Amino acid sequence: MQDDSHSQTLADILSSRCTTKAMDERPWPIPQPDPKLIEQILSAAQEAPFHKPAARELRKQGLPGIQPWRCYTLDAKQCRTLRQHLIDTGDTTKIPKLLAVADYLIQVTWLPNPSTEPSSELFDPSIQNMEHIAAASAAIQNMLLRATSLDIPNYWSSGGALRTPEIFTLLSIPESEILLGSLLFFPKDLDGADVKGGSLRPSRSLKEDWSRPVRLRP
Ligand SMILES: Cc1cc2nc3c(=O)[nH]c(=O)nc-3n(C[C@H](O)[C@H](O)[C@H](O)COP(=O)(O)O)c2cc1C
Repeated sequence: MQDDSHSQTLADILSSRCTTKAMDERPWPIPQPDPKLIEQILSAAQEAPFHKPAARELRKQGLPGIQPWRCYTLDAKQCRTLRQHLIDTGDTTKIPKLLAVADYLIQVTWLPNPSTEPSSELFDPSIQNMEHIAAASAAIQNMLLRATSLDIPNYWSSGGALRTPEIFTLLSIPESEILLGSLLFFPKDLDGADVKGGSLRPSRSLKEDWSRPVRLRP
């Protein structure tokens, strides 16, 4: 059991996590890579809960870990190269603008169990797949919270232009994996960037509107 100050620290980190989307048309100077930072963020994912191992076949095709998520990290230099690639291939979305500022991008995928029958669906609607996504989401949230604790502005994007098979091939990500989030980590000093928050943040419902006590009849 932790003391009150420990608990308060966690409460403070939880309440200060927020989406920060930092963008610029022009690429920002590339800072020295900070391997300790990425190590701290990945270590947070390492602590996330997961219920079932990823399918054995998939573990043979790519990285071998049993967790049902994978993280592919790009430092600022790689972000700028990826930005230029997107611009050169006609991308006019906000992704190149985010990659112009980001110190790190982590492409987080999850590993759906291979379908037993031919299917045109992205993945089978099984409980195990649901739990794989849940576990990968817990890993993402751990990373966002760790970044928040280090005062690193961060953003969980669905990926947009970073979801395509071409980008998977470019980053050598197995096509059997599904992108769950493109996590962007920005410099602490965002002076000069176009900064936006999460669009739904101001309209969050109160917990009374999404939770209730359950009372069973005696
Ligand atoms: C699974 C997931 C995907 C998201 N994808 C996007 C996205 O593609 N673009 C975006 O602007 N925000 C995205 N967000 C961030 C949400 O917009 C944001 O969390 C929400 O507006 C609440 O703001 P807050 O994170 O500051 O509390 C995503 C969040 C989650 C959980």
